[in-house]
Amino acid sequence: MIFLEPYEVLSKVYRDGAHLKLALSALPAGEKGRTVRLSYAVLENDGYLNLCVASIAKKKPQESVRLILKIALAAMLFADMVPPIAVNEAVLLARHIGKGGAAGFVNAALRVFKKENVVLPEGDEGLAIMSNFPPFAIKALREKYGDRVRDIVLAKSHGVSTRFVRGMERYLALPHEDTPFESVKIFKNFVRDEGFERGDYTFQSVGSVAVCEAIAPCEHLLDACAAPGGKSVLLAEKCGRVTACELHPHRVALIKSYVRRMGAKNIDVLQRDATAFDPAWEKKFDAVLCDVPCSGLGTVAENPDLPLRKNEGTMSELKALQSAILANCSRYVKAGGAIYYATCSILPEENDGMIAAFLRTHPDFSTEEISSPLAHERAAFGLQFLPDRAFGAGFYIAKMRRNI
Ligand SMILES: C[S@@+](CC[C@H](N)C(=O)[O-])C[C@H]1O[C@@H](n2cnc3c(N)ncnc32)[C@H](O)[C@@H]1O
Repeated sequence: MIFLEPYEVLSKVYRDGAHLKLALSALPAGEKGRTVRLSYAVLENDGYLNLCVASIAKKKPQESVRLILKIALAAMLFADMVPPIAVNEAVLLARHIGKGGAAGFVNAALRVFKKENVVLPEGDEGLAIMSNFPPFAIKALREKYGDRVRDIVLAKSHGVSTRFVRGMERYLALPHEDTPFESVKIFKNFVRDEGFERGDYTFQSVGSVAVCEAIAPCEHLLDACAAPGGKSVLLAEKCGRVTACELHPHRVALIKSYVRRMGAKNIDVLQRDATAFDPAWEKKFDAVLCDVPCSGLGTVAENPDLPLRKNEGTMSELKALQSAILANCSRYVKAGGAIYYATCSILPEENDGMIAAFLRTHPDFSTEEISSPLAHERAAFGLQFLPDRAFGAGFYIAKMRRNI
């Protein structure tokens, strides 16, 4: 039954708020290619598929039936499945999950589906539906980037961004794209093997690598929001010592296992609240990285399930947290040292907006120019990587020097 596995994965995402990548990684080993493709196709086109369902169902179907319709429609529209097979599989799935009573409806609705009957609203309203970006984000991006907003929000993932520590040659026969970073390749498909546990490679967005590359080597670096640990581990290659902190205990455990897997020896992992001042750390670090919690809207291409979990209501809370982390952690920077502020967001209010506000209240800090080989925009205070030109990755980093 072709649709059963995607149905189980997507139920966890829609119904339980699970993260797509985690739900997929919980599948038994083996050939999961079709499930991965179908799950992404449904989530990447969530808004559009809702319109498709509305075009064939007079009344709002139950959630489980709605999901069956979305999977079948995504298979037909985006995965080259011929309609009779998709309809048949959808009916089989309905019966299998105990929704036999809806099998007739599923069959009839899918048979009458016509793309021409799906009416997409014009302009940015339609773009919000096609991209799954919240309308407030589309508005902010249009103000900043004009018509390029379309390319930015519709950018798709290029594949699995993989950073190698050793043994890369063994994998280069697989279809991949080079990146500006010698050790980072983006694979169309990459099945994790024993090299992962050995720490030969790790999965890290090319945008995350670009953020680390923009950070200068130093003696002692504080990574204030470090879980799951990708940046701490890479930064430990060029810094004498890294103190990696995280608020949530279960995420502290993620850093520890990442550090262990990659064999890094110069990282101390601590559970800390980056908004709470510790006098013992005042002016103690040569550099501090605040890779703050953010909307994550720069990673929608890689995480198409993310918009299901975010809304404008959470933005003001996030910005208050970002500001509190930056202000508190700036007190840990030595005179002459540097603080870096990073996000995986493309929203100006979380990026340049936060730096502008910080500089207004912290005259002892001034911004410093940084550079990157990864395609970027020079923002007012930092570098903005955008998904349409940076392999689907949207990240931001700014550097500020403490003058006294
Ligand atoms: C963007 S993620 C960090 C990603 C990480 N730097 C990496 O590259 O692997 C932000 C992290 O900050 C953590 N966090 C949230 N509030 C925090 C706080 N008050 N203090 C410290 N960490 C916090 C979140 O749990 C999350 O793990």
